[in-house]
Amino acid sequence: MGSFFPEEILDEIKDHNRIVEVISQYIQVKSSGGATYKALCPFHSERTPSFVINDQKQIYKCFGCGEGGDVIHFIMKIENLDFIDAVKFLAEKSNIPLEIENHSKEMKKEIQQKMLYYEINKKAAIFYYNNLIRGQNPALGYLLNRGLTTKIIKSFGIGYSYNTWNELLNYLVKDGYQLKDIEKCGLILPNKENTDHYDRFRNRVIFPIFDIRGNVIGFGGRVLDNGLPKYLNSPETILFNKSNTIYGLNFSRKHITDGKIILVEGYMDVIALYQEGFKNVVAALGTSLTKSHAQLLKKYCNEVIICFDGDEAGVKATIRSIDILKEAELNCKILLLPPNQDPDDFIKEKGKYAFDEYLDKAVSPIDYKIIQAKNKHNLALPEGKIEFVKELAAILKQIKSPVEREVYVQKIENEIGVSKQAIHMEIYGNKGTISYEKNLKYSSNNKRDNKYIEAVPPAEQNGHIMAEKKLIKTMLVKPDILTLIIKKIKPEDFSRGNHQLIVEYILNHNIGDQNQLVKDLPHLEKDIEDILTTDIEHLDVTKILEKYIVNLKRFKLMYQAKMLQQEQKKLMENNILNKEEVEKELLKIGMEIMKINIEIQRLQF
Ligand code: UTP
Ligand code: MN
Repeated sequence: MGSFFPEEILDEIKDHNRIVEVISQYIQVKSSGGATYKALCPFHSERTPSFVINDQKQIYKCFGCGEGGDVIHFIMKIENLDFIDAVKFLAEKSNIPLEIENHSKEMKKEIQQKMLYYEINKKAAIFYYNNLIRGQNPALGYLLNRGLTTKIIKSFGIGYSYNTWNELLNYLVKDGYQLKDIEKCGLILPNKENTDHYDRFRNRVIFPIFDIRGNVIGFGGRVLDNGLPKYLNSPETILFNKSNTIYGLNFSRKHITDGKIILVEGYMDVIALYQEGFKNVVAALGTSLTKSHAQLLKKYCNEVIICFDGDEAGVKATIRSIDILKEAELNCKILLLPPNQDPDDFIKEKGKYAFDEYLDKAVSPIDYKIIQAKNKHNLALPEGKIEFVKELAAILKQIKSPVEREVYVQKIENEIGVSKQAIHMEIYGNKGTISYEKNLKYSSNNKRDNKYIEAVPPAEQNGHIMAEKKLIKTMLVKPDILTLIIKKIKPEDFSRGNHQLIVEYILNHNIGDQNQLVKDLPHLEKDIEDILTTDIEHLDVTKILEKYIVNLKRFKLMYQAKMLQQEQKKLMENNILNKEEVEKELLKIGMEIMKINIEIQRLQF
């Protein structure tokens, strides 16, 4: 716990020795996008780089030989120095005096004061721990009864404060510490008359709160019965700032193997999960996650799995935290616990395998918000449905990608039977655009390899089908504007296979001879007749041409997007590929759909 050098000095040394710069002085380092850099590992021989540096987290890791750590660790390894000499090495390089004496007066005072407070807190923690394991007290039984092992009690340094007024105070004073310093640590309080002091924590189970390096910076004390407050915490001190302290991070940071951290509400949730092997767990102590919490988490993980209590407060806190994590650009998932259970209750009742299953089923923030909205309204009643759709629209508006948004709209339509149009109206207002698929069905024999794609609308009088007919008729009867049309449109831009064939024929033969057309394409006679009987008398062709062409192009793109979406759906149902492969494929298709959507949007302007 703690370390030989004051943390302020270690921090300063690390600040002045950015990891990428330091490592670059030994080996060639290449940026691989974002905050990550790659290199050939200097600690084992390899041909392809598996040595990765994360500039944001200020750490390195070799995925070949497993070597990893911070900048000091790197120097220890590459210069073959012990910790102290590695620190001295870097301090010298950046001209930072290691002796406190050589720092400014203020800094010196601050460092010394903090070191004293760390010491007092540590002494107090040991005192409480010894109370718990040695003496006669109700707390040990209480903790064992709650399923904790003595091993985990020791790891987390859990203790007990006797039901007396100055046991800790007397102990620390006897040890030579001054009242004002003990008070500054938040461990004792002055009485009303300010004539004496008394212990803050009495008759409570004590949970020491550690900083990232394992220094004790504060305490949480739980009552043993139903008294209030249930938890009493240290006040804010020079060492303890609640809004940037994360409980358990000093333990869990060593167990973040896949970039994920589980975020729970309370002390006991952290400890219970940790004991069951979910060691990548932390708590924000209470329910409100702050921006600085998120920034701190970001140094150690890429994804936060929120697992708050399944009660109303838990839901509210989850929604708040989702937004804070999003702002910090941290990925986020939500593990949904049964109503009125917290992670500690859950794992005790259902076991670690059940928790693992729930972890697998953690949902995205949007899914979570939709689930909560659903729970809030009675979907059996029309009013409930209306309220739900309104709330849903507000949620879906937050999604930037139109494709992703449509996936949700589709899902809701299937699940609760509110029409897509209704949802679109709520999202986009009265126009309710993008109802482009309305009434369209696509031929099931989807032959993507065919030269022409056939899209078959059930209702013949669909706008774009009419437009196609009018366009073809124009090509046939007004050959003078044929060249104009050819420049802007290709046969495959038409939606119907038959139309595509006819247009191709016209372009290849450069004809306006309708009889020849029927002779050469006898099997398309019905279509040709349809086209020829289409009225274009009142058409201001040049004016309307552009619009038709845009319409056809848009239709085609939408069709392609739809087909890709169906492919995505099939992929999701498939059980041959593994999860990773499926995700990779889905992403690829998603990108294609995105590109198509951009093209569609371009067409509209
Ligand atoms: P909970 O009320 O959910 O308690 O508060 P819990 O964690 O389940 O505790 P147990 O299982 O009954 O022992 C969640 C967290 O909120 C903070 C604590 O950090 C607690 O762990 N809290 C709660 C307080 O700081 N003070 C309180 O009075 C209550
Ligand atoms: Mn609990």
